[in-house]
Amino acid sequence: MKIVSIVGARPQFIKAAPVSGELRKYHQEKLLHTGQHYDAKLSKIFFDDLKIPRPDLNLGVGSDSHARQTAEIMIGVESYLIQQKPDWVIIYGDTNSTLAGALATTKLHIRLAHVEAGLRSFNRRMPEEINRIVADRVSNILFCPTTAAVKNLQREGVSAGVHLVGDVMMDAAQQFVTVAEQKSRILEKLSLQPKQYFLLTLHRAENTDSEENMRNIVDALTDSPEPIIFPVHPRTVKYLKQYKLFGRIQMASNIVLADPVSFMDMIVLEKNAAKILTDSGGVQKEAYFYGVPCITLRDETEWVETVADGWNCLVGANRTKITEAINNFAPGSPQQGHYGDGSASLKIRKVLENESS
Ligand code: UD1
Ligand code: UDP
Repeated sequence: MKIVSIVGARPQFIKAAPVSGELRKYHQEKLLHTGQHYDAKLSKIFFDDLKIPRPDLNLGVGSDSHARQTAEIMIGVESYLIQQKPDWVIIYGDTNSTLAGALATTKLHIRLAHVEAGLRSFNRRMPEEINRIVADRVSNILFCPTTAAVKNLQREGVSAGVHLVGDVMMDAAQQFVTVAEQKSRILEKLSLQPKQYFLLTLHRAENTDSEENMRNIVDALTDSPEPIIFPVHPRTVKYLKQYKLFGRIQMASNIVLADPVSFMDMIVLEKNAAKILTDSGGVQKEAYFYGVPCITLRDETEWVETVADGWNCLVGANRTKITEAINNFAPGSPQQGHYGDGSASLKIRKVLENESS
């Protein structure tokens, strides 16, 4: 089998790492990097640390408006696929790279597999929700991480090609947690004691693009007595500066700003955090994997099981709710283990082989 995998943004490198490793045992895989993320700390560091093969092509599209970025990626993907003639294209998650890869592939009548299919927030103001819906609609194979994702697709009348395989991020967590704990020196570097700090990530458009949301979040965080470690996404730096909030974060005695960290450092920061505050999809799940209470700075989540189990609470950008959760949120019930056993990549390979024979 010849497979082209399309990646472009930080979480996609992490998701592709276990799948790529599994596919390359038996098949030919070409890796296409769209260049949506290009800073070394959002891209190269993951290829180095996770031993992901060098991309066969980097389109280098960079940042732009949604339409321009999506269109540039489509153009690049189309010519690469015409040249490569793969049996399958694999797309991951819900970014503009996912959407563009889906559209370019399906129009060439090449079979398309979507990893992390069926997730829904039911909020169409999120760019990710549009990307997911379109990608799922045109994919031939839908690899769902959870039963909730399968049910979402059923509700939309989609059952053909749907496979519940578990979450590839669980595979990544299992594959890298031991080496992360051996290699990472991030706790020493930031002078942190296990369970004596909170970890924060914040980058979703629904927060960054709203001055009111950002102001509420910054107010709640700077009010808190808890030490908060904040590896900050460049998008967030840009908006914090625009809203003249960056200085307040820098000056806050309880907040430690850092550049985006490597996956190894992130695993260690997550595992040892007292609580995690985030609007990231991936970080919500990792908090659950590592048994760390998660406070989600959004009004809804695609990872509904984390909330149902009582390990994740949704506080949006509401200052009072954030403060209340920082002070009091504590999971009360055991986890039900919704994300599989770390064999999602293996199952993905087997489904593709069956579908090809
Ligand atoms: C994208 C995804 C989002 C995902 C996130 C993962 C879309 C619509 N959004 O958001 O779903 O959660 O990746 O991290 O696809 N920038 C840099 N350096 C980079 C990349 C971006 O400085 O290497 C800055 C630029 O100012 C850019 C902004 O971040 O304009 C946004 O980048 P973009 O790729 O459009 O979206 P993300 O916010 O990263
Ligand atoms: N991550 C990382 N370093 C950071 C922040 C996040 O390695 O500084 C990892 C995190 O552990 C998770 C993934 O990036 O595996 C999540 O990506 P992100 O939050 O950018 O996107 P989302 O999941 O929201 O789409």
